[in-house]
Amino acid sequence: MKNTFYLNLSTADSLGIALFKYSIFPDERFIITNSALALMLGYNAKSEIKRFTFADLFVSQTEKEEFLGTLKRNGNVHFFETRFRKSDGKPLWVAITASVITSRERDKYVEGIIEDISSHKEMEEKLALEKDMLQNLLDNMPDAIYFKDDTNHIIKFNRFYAKGVNLPPDQIFGKTDFDFFPAAQAEVMFEDDNKVLATGEPIVGKIERTKLPNGTWNQVITTKIPMYDGNGKVTGTMGITRDMTAYANLERERVDMLISALMVLAKVLEMRDPYTFGHARNVAVIAERIAEKLGWDENRLLGMRLAGQLHDLGKISIPLDILNKPGKLSELEYQLIKEHVNKCYDLIKDIKFPFSLAETILQHHERLDGSGYPNNLRSDQILLEARILAVSDVLESMTAYRPYREALGIDRALEELQDGAGKKYDERIVSLVRDLTFSSPNREFWLN
Ligand SMILES: [Fe+2]
Ligand SMILES: [Fe+2]
Repeated sequence: MKNTFYLNLSTADSLGIALFKYSIFPDERFIITNSALALMLGYNAKSEIKRFTFADLFVSQTEKEEFLGTLKRNGNVHFFETRFRKSDGKPLWVAITASVITSRERDKYVEGIIEDISSHKEMEEKLALEKDMLQNLLDNMPDAIYFKDDTNHIIKFNRFYAKGVNLPPDQIFGKTDFDFFPAAQAEVMFEDDNKVLATGEPIVGKIERTKLPNGTWNQVITTKIPMYDGNGKVTGTMGITRDMTAYANLERERVDMLISALMVLAKVLEMRDPYTFGHARNVAVIAERIAEKLGWDENRLLGMRLAGQLHDLGKISIPLDILNKPGKLSELEYQLIKEHVNKCYDLIKDIKFPFSLAETILQHHERLDGSGYPNNLRSDQILLEARILAVSDVLESMTAYRPYREALGIDRALEELQDGAGKKYDERIVSLVRDLTFSSPNREFWLN
């Protein structure tokens, strides 16, 4: 039996699809339509449609001309989306599929179907609106927001991001961090992205210093999260980077102010006790040199330098004749001198610093074997900063001239440190000091 497929006018009606046959030559008129077209446009009967020409139905002149032009050129149109005017004057989104047919009598007409696509269009408009809203939200965020694919190429970003990399949008799509940032920095960003991609674990609130393409250094805080597809597979990453430079500068100004105030105290100590003039400054230089060799960041170096500058500040409270007494001290005098670490600790313990300044100073006379003061701390209980300070303090004191004795010299100082390495002093730091002083026996050389 032959399979036959009939889509007749009434079947089409029940499916809500409009069928039409429209004469374009010799005269213009609807020859046949089903009720669906009338219903779509809000008319009661299909006869009402026949009052119109096809062109009358279009809302937009441009769309009408485009439709007729395409039909004339190609002889057919496929799913042409346009708006028809309904009986109440409102527009209705429809899609027309039609072709031109010429009869044996040379009559010309158009046959085709019209579908109501308003709900589809509504959905499309809603999606577009949501997309606009999202883009709007992204663009109005004062943070850089960016989306990358699984090979870390940029696929979406907001206005703030574009401003940061200082390029027009079309030059950002498809690029990677290597196109915008110095290589070493891009390397770290790339590694972070790969980590998020591989583990699916976010990186939250990472603080970094970033050099932007416009040449400025910024302090930023970055969060990166994985993006998933419908099957739970990681397809890329989303990142948010907030510029905290202003905040960081403010914090830096606050710390600078505190440092200036403490430096005044350090000067007072120096003026009061000229015999140890320059001691604190020199200890600071040595300690910072050692810390540099350990590859510390800017902040930790600042903490180290400051600890050196202020480590003996507590001596302000010790009578000068005890402080500079040549020869042996009585037990009581020694106890008084030892107090300088607690005094300094009390003085600065309540000041908030982004490094452990008060503890470092408190511990600068502690020794690895527990023989130091004030708390007889041992090895790992002593901060690395304090261990550096201890070594720097010994090196400075022993190589410095004192009114009651000549400078003991670098060899004696190194001997003392070497003897105590691993017992009193941190071995690694002693060996760094040896490297540091190797270039010259003249302390002025490595103190400058
Ligand atoms: Fe001291
Ligand atoms: Fe000292």
